[in-house]
Amino acid sequence: MNIILIGPPGAGKGTQARRLVAERGMVQLSTGDMLRAAKESGTEMGQRVAEVMAQGALVTDEIVIGLIDEKLDSLGDAGAIFDGFPRTLAQADALDALLRGRGSRIDHVIEMRVDDEALVTRVSGRFSCASCGEVYHDTTRPTARPGVCDSCGSTEFTRRADDTAEALRARLMAYYKQTSPLLGYYHAKGALQGVDGMAEMDAVAAEIAALLAR
Ligand code: AP5
Repeated sequence: MNIILIGPPGAGKGTQARRLVAERGMVQLSTGDMLRAAKESGTEMGQRVAEVMAQGALVTDEIVIGLIDEKLDSLGDAGAIFDGFPRTLAQADALDALLRGRGSRIDHVIEMRVDDEALVTRVSGRFSCASCGEVYHDTTRPTARPGVCDSCGSTEFTRRADDTAEALRARLMAYYKQTSPLLGYYHAKGALQGVDGMAEMDAVAAEIAALLAR
């Protein structure tokens, strides 16, 4: 089963994708995580990507489609959760073609709906474990023991460079201009489903599970 989670920055895509990985053994394909890894690589491409991400704009279709193409070869039978991809109509068409070429397809496209004001609060309070990547929030999801990751016990945490108010405004604009047309695209294909992303994390997970069981 292949799933796309679609929603604005801070909607909870990464949080729910990690739960699906833990509960169902699926593979999370997050282009944001792949690009942050490319940034750390110190290559010229990484440098270019870092500048675009810091501004909150979208990286070129060519780069992200190439990253996804590489990962699809090692997917196996587990099924993928596409988290933050596709983000443009060109990426959606490319994904369809890449999956078709491998005898596969998208089974569920799930829109996570969250109010803009809540996104600001979520993104500004987010931090992640520097070791395993588990995502937390200062108020809605703190670590059980202060300063210690619940998942792996690490005491190192990071905050994202693009989680500033200015970059978030640009990321939201990119979402509405370039990504939200995908909702119409998948609706027209009869594939679009939605969940209330404003609900508590467990309730969102339950709603997603109910959609996947249909
Ligand atoms: P990316 O890393 O994909 O970021 P994003 O889409 O902006 O989404 P986020 O990761 O910020 O949010 P999320 O929905 O995963 O929320 P999370 O679960 O963390 O992309 C970053 C950049 O990379 C882009 O701006 C672009 O430059 C580039 N890029 C990436 N993909 C690209 C592509 N395909 N094409 C071109 N460029 C691309 O949750 C957020 C916070 O809220 C957390 O603290 C969490 O604990 C909390 N939270 C989660 N759920 C809830 C809940 N239900 N209630 C309360 N709090 C909650």
